[in-house]
Amino acid sequence: MREADLPTVIAIEQRAYAFPWTQGVFRDCLLANHPAWVLVEDGAIIGYAVLSVAADEAHVLNLCTAPEVQGRGHGRRLLRALMQLARGRGAHRVFLEVRPSNGPAIALYHDEGFNEIGRRPRYYPARDGREDALVMALELLPEE
Ligand SMILES: CC(C)(COP(=O)(O)OP(=O)(O)OC[C@H]1O[C@@H](n2cnc3c(N)ncnc32)[C@H](O)[C@@H]1OP(=O)(O)O)[C@@H](O)C(=O)NCCC(=O)NCCS
Repeated sequence: MREADLPTVIAIEQRAYAFPWTQGVFRDCLLANHPAWVLVEDGAIIGYAVLSVAADEAHVLNLCTAPEVQGRGHGRRLLRALMQLARGRGAHRVFLEVRPSNGPAIALYHDEGFNEIGRRPRYYPARDGREDALVMALELLPEE
């Protein structure tokens, strides 16, 4: 993901989330050199993912596919690419937060081997106040 991608990324972000990140948050991630990738199909950005890695732990900060192409395997592909990236940077565990109401994302994370390890109370803004976050984690095994 580059600065020039941000208008397209933001347009997807605003369609995909009820409480989207601002352009400033994406820019801060790029400035912090967090690994940030866009998924391109036929020359168009259709998804993206942002990771942070510190010591041997990685954190999925954002994972998103455009609403019109969801359910076609792109999210899984992006998540697997992130796990490869995390492994390549020496991470042994990967963490993420997800809304308990986000069934599709939770199903994907479970399917890829993540387990629930806790909850952060009132972590996310919600229409009627705040919503907890489920914290999920995955141990990265060395590649065979
Ligand atoms: C979550 C998200 C990234 C998944 O991406 P996607 O491209 O739609 O997912 P895929 O097509 O790769 O599906 C992978 C798996 O996710 C789960 N899944 C996807 N859509 C689903 C749905 N509508 N209902 C239930 N499970 C679903 C399934 O387990 C699916 O595997 P299957 O196809 O073998 O059944 C995407 O829905 C998205 O961007 N949502 C909005 C942003 C968001 O919530 N991001 C996650 C924040 S933590």
